[in-house]
Amino acid sequence: MKLAVTGKGGVGKTTIAGTLARLLGRDGIRILAVDADPNYNLWTSVGIDAAAAQTIKPLLEIEELVRERTDTPLVELMGSFFRLNPRVDDLASKYAVEGPDNVSLLVAGTVNMGGQGCMCPSAALLKSLINHLALEGDEAFIMDMDAGIENLGRGTTRGMDLLLVVVEPGMRSLETLDRIKGLAEDIGLSRVVAVANRVMDEEDRSVVSKYLASREIPLIGVVPYDNELRRADMSSQAPLDYCPDSSAVRAIHDLKTSILDYLRDLLPSAESGS
Ligand SMILES: Nc1ncnc2c1ncn2[C@@H]1O[C@H](COP(=O)(O)OP(=O)(O)O)[C@@H](O)[C@H]1O
Ligand SMILES: [Mg+2]
Repeated sequence: MKLAVTGKGGVGKTTIAGTLARLLGRDGIRILAVDADPNYNLWTSVGIDAAAAQTIKPLLEIEELVRERTDTPLVELMGSFFRLNPRVDDLASKYAVEGPDNVSLLVAGTVNMGGQGCMCPSAALLKSLINHLALEGDEAFIMDMDAGIENLGRGTTRGMDLLLVVVEPGMRSLETLDRIKGLAEDIGLSRVVAVANRVMDEEDRSVVSKYLASREIPLIGVVPYDNELRRADMSSQAPLDYCPDSSAVRAIHDLKTSILDYLRDLLPSAESGS
């Protein structure tokens, strides 16, 4: 299962992605959490301690690695030339930092942009990582992305099973959804779902759900506004460690169940279960 979390800046992507990762990890799934936000801070919501976080070296900022992996030779196949995808299968075991609950974290770091339709090596390596990272049946990949998937160029999320868009009640956040959905369609990613975050009341919920219904995007979770999450952030703790019984964490738990339900047809273990 490969899952990407996206949405406007500040909507709660990192909070939700990190908490989801650990909740899935507790189900016995090995989770590779990938932080693709240039201001990487997913480690905080996963609950990796600051000392371990200090040792993180964002993958795309290791120049030698990027050069070595993306400088792949052209190969000839049936009269045409192709560039091989950079090798990525060993990156997680070499560079991921271990966190709690079966979660390990790989920090991608900043993609050096080269303008429109960026073919820069770091973007190529990130795409390859997403598209060609092989997962076993009991593994999952969760990526926390900054606002625009378009920032990374087309094809970045092609290898994803599900794009989870975090929205909050408000037009600025909801309108990013249209762009994201358009892009997802362009790359043939059909599973786009939304979670509403920071929902205060029934009216908030209804605004979001009407908007989503008009765009035919399923709303698969609702996370209430919860001060405990802010306090967790202020005390530099993961929500799951600071306020495991808070209403927001409980809602993320329900979100996890909905995601597994939604992806049931993809998950081999679902059939062999009860
Ligand atoms: N449901 C919520 N209720 C209250 N505060 C929240 C909620 N979700 C997120 N926050 C707070 O909002 C801030 C931004 O969240 P974050 O997950 O970093 O957003 P993003 O990754 O989308 O930029 C953090 O301080 C976080 O604790
Ligand atoms: Mg974030």
